[in-house]
Amino acid sequence: MPEQLLNDIRTTLASARSQLEYLSDLGVETLLRDAAGVELEQQSDASKSLDETLDAIREDLGDCQRCGLGASRKELVYGVGNPNARLVLVGEAPGREEDQKGEPFVGEAGRLLDRILQAMGMQREDVYICNVLKCRPPDNRDPQPEEVATCEAFLIRQIAAINPQVIIGLGRFAVHSLLKNKVPISRIRGEWQSYQGIPLMPTYHPAYLLRNPEGKRDVWEDMKEVMRRLNAEADNP
Ligand code: URA
Ligand code: URA
Repeated sequence: MPEQLLNDIRTTLASARSQLEYLSDLGVETLLRDAAGVELEQQSDASKSLDETLDAIREDLGDCQRCGLGASRKELVYGVGNPNARLVLVGEAPGREEDQKGEPFVGEAGRLLDRILQAMGMQREDVYICNVLKCRPPDNRDPQPEEVATCEAFLIRQIAAINPQVIIGLGRFAVHSLLKNKVPISRIRGEWQSYQGIPLMPTYHPAYLLRNPEGKRDVWEDMKEVMRRLNAEADNP
């Protein structure tokens, strides 16, 4: 068998194994049936907001110094993924690795997030991933309200440009910032909310799952609910 084909098979098997391990961590046995149903086709350009492109918003941010975080960050972390994504995931703020690379969720929590997406039958490239804050707070301290207030304008424009069908809010901080409330994440997760008129599913942050793996089962329930919603939208566009 040619070496390249063998490598492709190895890669595919490793990816399937990672997905199955995540699912069996969760005690999920019937998930592949759920995941296989997810319609991955992206929405057509005609159905999305054409007012402003993601590139134009990025250009407007420029070498942003609108809040104090501009002075200490290395890279501004704008967001990655499909500009026509049906699903947008919003985290808190870049950490050390993201600040180095300029890309969201590339550290350990990001690898877990990739596995969650795989379990949903998706890849990073299918969705759009960003954060409430685009610059790393020094020593990963909590974001300050004025930093959120300044930065959120750009998040709102990004979401309007993508016009996704579903948003996932990752973790307490992102959910509190987006919804402007302080309802404990353990109470609000799994319950549909709304952000900028788009259904938002609050769930635990992957970094929290690294410390509390027992939360993975709840996150999988939330992800199944997201898949149900995306499938329903695909059936009734
Ligand atoms: N945690 C987040 O909330 N966002 C990232 O991009 C990385 C870690
Ligand atoms: N606490 C957090 O800060 N985030 C979570 O996702 C869960 C608990």
